[in-house]
Amino acid sequence: MNTIWSDCIQGIDTLNLTRALRFSDIFREKYQRAFQIDGRKDILEIGCGPGALCRSLNRWYPEANIYGIDRDSQFIEFARQEAPYISFSEDDATHLSFENERFDVTISNTVQEHIEPAKFFGEQYRVLKKGGVCLVLSARKGINISAPCILEKTEFEREFYRRTDEACEKALRDYNICSYPMNEAELPLEMGKYGFQNISTEFITVNLTPNNPEYSPEMAHAMIDANRRSVLDSIENLKHIIPDLVTPEEIETLKKIKNEKYDRRISLYDAGVKQWDTNMSLIMVLRGIK
Ligand SMILES: C[S@@+](CC[C@H](N)C(=O)[O-])C[C@H]1O[C@@H](n2cnc3c(N)ncnc32)[C@H](O)[C@@H]1O
Repeated sequence: MNTIWSDCIQGIDTLNLTRALRFSDIFREKYQRAFQIDGRKDILEIGCGPGALCRSLNRWYPEANIYGIDRDSQFIEFARQEAPYISFSEDDATHLSFENERFDVTISNTVQEHIEPAKFFGEQYRVLKKGGVCLVLSARKGINISAPCILEKTEFEREFYRRTDEACEKALRDYNICSYPMNEAELPLEMGKYGFQNISTEFITVNLTPNNPEYSPEMAHAMIDANRRSVLDSIENLKHIIPDLVTPEEIETLKKIKNEKYDRRISLYDAGVKQWDTNMSLIMVLRGIK
């Protein structure tokens, strides 16, 4: 049972809700133009987390068979419950349990930077059919501005973070996440080393700004809620990463403070008071053919 990512790094809600927005149908055309995989049958997502991208792929390519693998047991259990019609399994991207030339497409989102490149690209090359498509998605630069009503800190928060920030950063460094970062030129060069051809890059902007009039109240609420759940998850994770520095009472107090702030954010939205908090991601889509 491997639960390191979901317990310590990013919780189920964080990945599930933020990715459901990132891969919402509003942005479908942009992704489909970049992917160019219409008519491809078997699609494997590497490091699928709780499965939000797999569910979008299932809606966008209803004729395809979608498979998702991840090393984290809790993500896979959740993904299966959410979408029993998709084939999810626990597997290691560095030693995939699929036979050679099994898939027409492999795809991943914000996974490459965590896996040794020879394994990451080599295994996808192995399981792809000749002519198959490898898609590597990653969030590059972004703008992330919280609402003013969220930014105001209580004395409890100031004291809590002053005491825990350093230990928390150190503990996260020890998990060796993001050990293989690559810039926008290094990524296609690296992909080429493993035999992929016709390599191309595309960049997609995903603007999640609740107060933008183009977004429905449901979508705006979902954006605020995704931020709320991510913050609550990161507080819960502290129990696993710095257990000696936090008490259950402190965790509950902190969650209560955050919940009150996000309740206020929702009330302001509902009352038409604009805060202009924004989360803009630039998503790189690297595409290569076997
Ligand atoms: C930043 S998360 C992204 C998850 C998902 N792609 C998303 O966007 O929500 C990175 C994911 O890669 C998974 N992962 C890291 N190394 C892995 C490996 N060797 N095999 C399978 N999954 C791995 C983690 O468990 C985690 O779910």
